[in-house]
Amino acid sequence: MLAMTYRGPYRVRLDEKPIPQIEHPNDAIIRVTRTCLCGSDLHIYHGLLPDTRIGSTFGHEFVGVVEEVGPTVQSLKPGDRVGVPFNISCGSCFFCKKSLYGNCENTNPNSSIGAGFFGYSHTTGGYDGGQAEYVRVPFADVGPFKIPDGMSEDDAVLLTDVFPTGYQAAEMGDIKAGDTVIVFGAGPVGIFAAKSAWLMGAGRVIVVDQADYRLEFVQNYAQVETVNFAQVDDIIMTLKKMTDWRGADVCIDAVGAEADGDWLQTLAGVRMKLSGGATTALGWAIESCRKAGNVSIVGVYGPPINLVPMGTAMNKGLTMRMNQCNVKRYLPRLIEHVMSGRVKPSDIITHRVPLEEVSDAYHRFSSKLDHCIKTVLIPPKAA
Ligand SMILES: NC(=O)c1ccc[n+]([C@@H]2O[C@H](COP(=O)([O-])OP(=O)(O)OC[C@H]3O[C@@H](n4cnc5c(N)ncnc54)[C@H](O)[C@@H]3O)[C@@H](O)[C@H]2O)c1
Ligand SMILES: [Zn+2]
Ligand SMILES: [Zn+2]
Repeated sequence: MLAMTYRGPYRVRLDEKPIPQIEHPNDAIIRVTRTCLCGSDLHIYHGLLPDTRIGSTFGHEFVGVVEEVGPTVQSLKPGDRVGVPFNISCGSCFFCKKSLYGNCENTNPNSSIGAGFFGYSHTTGGYDGGQAEYVRVPFADVGPFKIPDGMSEDDAVLLTDVFPTGYQAAEMGDIKAGDTVIVFGAGPVGIFAAKSAWLMGAGRVIVVDQADYRLEFVQNYAQVETVNFAQVDDIIMTLKKMTDWRGADVCIDAVGAEADGDWLQTLAGVRMKLSGGATTALGWAIESCRKAGNVSIVGVYGPPINLVPMGTAMNKGLTMRMNQCNVKRYLPRLIEHVMSGRVKPSDIITHRVPLEEVSDAYHRFSSKLDHCIKTVLIPPKAA
């Protein structure tokens, strides 16, 4: 089969690989019909995550058709159209029982901090991902959801990560009616965090980024105010001024470890890898949040030492919440939002390209060329 493979930082290509086989009775093999590139893929594409092995296949956002199921699979049958959450969860451990599917302790037992994810290095279990014609899905009775009749695959594939992640970001902010919310990052995750903030009763939503085309998009898609941090002298003072000098009630970091805006952080955290990425956006979230406000983090960071202004956070009495997204937990509610027409996730897709063009697609998304927001790859056997 055709599959994207990692060749080293900034280098991916399409290769021939064997079609995955059932390895465990609760596995399913899915024929992929849509798979996306995500900001999280950029962290591994840029070589920032340890143990990203040459030859591995990325892709944690995918939908497809069930091709084959193992003997114990009860909830799926060949021919079903399914979406697959990016976290692999066992469904029965301490964490899964609390709906913390992103913290499952059985799918990546070598690590005490992360569950298994599709296509996201051996740090998260070494599972091959869905940027391929076929993918093996373990615990097939737990993760996959059937795509309802009438829902497009383009909408469904955005339910496997970014819409739920943005939604969880807003939920962790514990937004109260009328709250002012600042979202850092106008990528897919930030866009859905902004959209979800309104669903939770926000009174005002401000989105910060440096890419004008993304700010323009989110302004129209989620009716928010925007600030381009590269075009103001001091982003913290600008945001404080916009929020009565008190700060926002809730700040959301939807940027993560590769944030721009502070050359020292970029040098130490991204170029020299002395710390777990640049925490610039998180620092700005802490600084521009009001005292006793909430900071919610879904931007991804590596575990080692970070330059985070903890003293400011502590003295202000901030509540900080963060996690990988527990995708499965949000699916019933978000499927409802999509089916009712309240949210149309596929509106954020800017590029639909054949899987064969995966290498160009990574380059375009990584360099933010051609006004790229979200890329969907379509394998040749998708139809
Ligand atoms: N927690 C989870 O479960 C989860 C799931 C999906 C993605 N993520 C993470 O969320 C983050 C965003 O993902 P995405 O797909 O939207 O990525 P993306 O790369 O498309 O978007 C990131 C945006 O942040 C902007 N940015 C850079 N520095 C900034 C700063 N200092 N302040 C404000 N904006 C800044 C960039 O210009 C870009 O538009 C990534 O770190 C990704 O790994 C986490
Ligand atoms: Zn993703
Ligand atoms: Zn589990």
